[in-house]
Amino acid sequence: MTIILKSASQLEKMRVAGKLASEVLDILTPLVKPGITTEELNQAAHTYMTEVQGTIPATLDYRGFPKSICTSINHVVCHGIPGNKKLKKGDIINIDVTVIKDGYHGDTSRMFEVGEIKPFAARLCKVAYECLWKGIAQVKPQATLFEVAAAIEQHAHAHHCSVVHEYCGHGIGQSFHEEPQVLHYAADELKEIILKPGMTFTIEPMINLGKLDVKLLGDNWTVVTKDRSLSAQWEHTLAVTKTGYEVFTLRPGETPLY
Ligand code: MF3
Ligand code: CO
Ligand code: CO
Repeated sequence: MTIILKSASQLEKMRVAGKLASEVLDILTPLVKPGITTEELNQAAHTYMTEVQGTIPATLDYRGFPKSICTSINHVVCHGIPGNKKLKKGDIINIDVTVIKDGYHGDTSRMFEVGEIKPFAARLCKVAYECLWKGIAQVKPQATLFEVAAAIEQHAHAHHCSVVHEYCGHGIGQSFHEEPQVLHYAADELKEIILKPGMTFTIEPMINLGKLDVKLLGDNWTVVTKDRSLSAQWEHTLAVTKTGYEVFTLRPGETPLY
């Protein structure tokens, strides 16, 4: 069990990769409209990454994943595969982008509303976003990942939502997924993971309107809620600094919520 601490020059590369990942979501934002297919979003992202940014789409061929982004609609929790499905008014969709630049990864996802959405769907997206920032707010040297997870879980439960257990955030750097595993629920094992300056990881809670149980579809990627309730997720890549944290994947104008 080894958590790789990054040097100042490595952190600078993570900063660049994080900003580029966030910019992919920025260019997709105006395209997320009723009628567009998730494959068209994938194509737009792929072209922007490879031809404009000079980044590598980290998900493409990652353990056999066939596309350059993940698109997870409504009751899809994560790892949805872009395809011919058209977005329709009232959908909520998570788009998850991971780029590699100069050998380092930036990983971020956001929720998007397709046209006008139902108040309960908007509420779930808001609670999930708050969960992400409740977790981030705990990040500082000597804190543990238990505090991060407990803050997320408490907030979700306070709003009668559940937290997915099977998938988690992760250390990130020259590898897409490295140690530690960043669970989003208060598991005792997290008390042993003490945060140190130079650690880099993602926080990416998956929050369900119904029960926490999930199942994997036959394509071996798409994860859905067992009860078909809506699920929402937001993700940032961050570093632990001397005094707290630095988020590498902020969107323009985004500031800490707490
Ligand atoms: N970007 C996802 C994460 O946040 C991982 C996607 S792996 C894939 O960790 F293979 F599904 F693309
Ligand atoms: Co991630
Ligand atoms: Co991601």
